[in-house]
Amino acid sequence: MERSRGESDDNFPAGGGAVPMVTIKTEKEIDLIRESSKIVADVLRLLEKQITHGITTKELDDLAEDFIQSSGGIPAFKGYGNDRHNLYPASICVSVDDEVVHGIPGKRVLKEGEIVSVDVGVLKNGFFGDGASTFPVGKVSEGKARLMKITREALDKGVEQAVEGNYLHDISSAVQHHVEAAGFSVVRDLVGHGIGRELHEDPPVPNYGKARTGLKLKEGMTLAVEPMVNFGIYKVHTAPDGWTIQTTDGEPSAHYEHTVVVRQHKAEILTQ
Ligand code: MF3
Ligand code: CO
Repeated sequence: MERSRGESDDNFPAGGGAVPMVTIKTEKEIDLIRESSKIVADVLRLLEKQITHGITTKELDDLAEDFIQSSGGIPAFKGYGNDRHNLYPASICVSVDDEVVHGIPGKRVLKEGEIVSVDVGVLKNGFFGDGASTFPVGKVSEGKARLMKITREALDKGVEQAVEGNYLHDISSAVQHHVEAAGFSVVRDLVGHGIGRELHEDPPVPNYGKARTGLKLKEGMTLAVEPMVNFGIYKVHTAPDGWTIQTTDGEPSAHYEHTVVVRQHKAEILTQ
């Protein structure tokens, strides 16, 4: 999700703004988030098999929409947005190469060597699940392959920190460390988020920050952890369509996301 405006890099995420309203979910609520998240994971597995040279991003969107609807879910992203004149028009986000996130599916034909980030959100029984993965189209360069591997690992390292007694920015710091040690950069303008009855709940979950700071994590918090990692510099901008986020330097970017539950000893991943 987009980081809210008016926060400088200095005071974010350490504080200064409003106190986040974080809810603890009951096991019944978690069961429903698990159900929506399972559909998300199934869609990602379905699309992974379809991602080859020649398919259009719109074809991927149609496949996802059909699958979500036949599972009794609603595509969470369709109709989402603050600008009522430019609501998000599709069921999934498909972001290719230098597109970081929020790419709108359309006539674009995928080509061998590209990397494709697919983001899926599902609403079912009043609860959301959210997940994303980056896939190669055929054989990709060593650099892109390494970018995907490091981003995937950064997600795992972040999720590992989502246990009771840790702090929110333990997640952020673990992600940032892994990414920067590999020579890549984390996007700052977009962050992960709480999730449940809403797609985007408190707290914001940045992919950078200082360990042992921020909110204290408690069992039953549900979070979408989603590192967005750039091959080059961290800077991004919004394309003229008002949605697609692109790297400013034109270098590729990768994105992985899980919906997770904070647990006592080991985070529970709902989108796998
Ligand atoms: N996973 C992304 C997020 O949390 C997907 C949002 S797409 C949108 O921001 F269309 F809903 F914005
Ligand atoms: Co998300």
